Amino acid sequence: MILVLAESALELVPRELWGHPAVVADARRRGKRPGELLLDRARHHPAMSHLTDAARRGRPDIVHQVLLAFQYSLLNRRGLGRVYVHTRDDHVISIRPETRVPKNYNNFVSLMEQLFSAGKVPPSGEPLMELSRKSLRGLLEKLGGRWVALHEAGEKTSLPGLGRSLLGSVVVVGGFPRGDFANRWVLEKAAGVYRIGEEAMDAPQAVCRAVVAAELAAGLV
Ligand SMILES: C[S@@+](CC[C@H](N)C(=O)[O-])C[C@H]1O[C@@H](n2cnc3c(N)ncnc32)[C@H](O)[C@@H]1O
Repeated sequence: MILVLAESALELVPRELWGHPAVVADARRRGKRPGELLLDRARHHPAMSHLTDAARRGRPDIVHQVLLAFQYSLLNRRGLGRVYVHTRDDHVISIRPETRVPKNYNNFVSLMEQLFSAGKVPPSGEPLMELSRKSLRGLLEKLGGRWVALHEAGEKTSLPGLGRSLLGSVVVVGGFPRGDFANRWVLEKAAGVYRIGEEAMDAPQAVCRAVVAAELAAGLV
């Protein structure tokens, strides 16, 4: 199962916020320049009030939780998983299956900042994570042009049925905290759109269930 976490709320602090006192104080505390910091609503909330589309930005914790659930899963450990993080400003992070994502959130933030600065981590040798400029459409085309999506208004499926649809497929999940895909075609052109349960859930919750469903289909659980 290739997971594509799409339109994820992960980005560096945008230029228009560099001078805001909340950002300046955080940069000083962390010994970095404002533009080297990951935008994080928990730290930069006062600075974000006038930011366009603010409700869908500054949530690297969503990406962190999804990566923990995915990278340490049986599915990934058995070589049946791969994850790409697409961000709302069209960066793509490619993550090798053997990558041990930091379990500590602060260490994860530092790693992402290093990735945005160097383009890969570790900076020398074979990279475990690589950052490139790519649209969601470009990524999905590179992955073969066929995908399924998870969505709260999709077709209701049982967990075993869902697993059979997800195993071996490219699976798109929204990496944003609220609202819907800005790229509506992701749902319209998907080979299938599936719902888990009766209500919208957080992306990490949806990903946990998708992983378990695929593990069931693979006979791992
Ligand atoms: C936090 S949700 C997006 C926000 C959601 N539309 C809302 O307003 O609460 C993140 C992603 O998780 C997935 N998702 C959420 N609930 C789901 C469900 N019940 N079934 C399948 N996927 C779901 C979708 O891919 C969605 O884009």
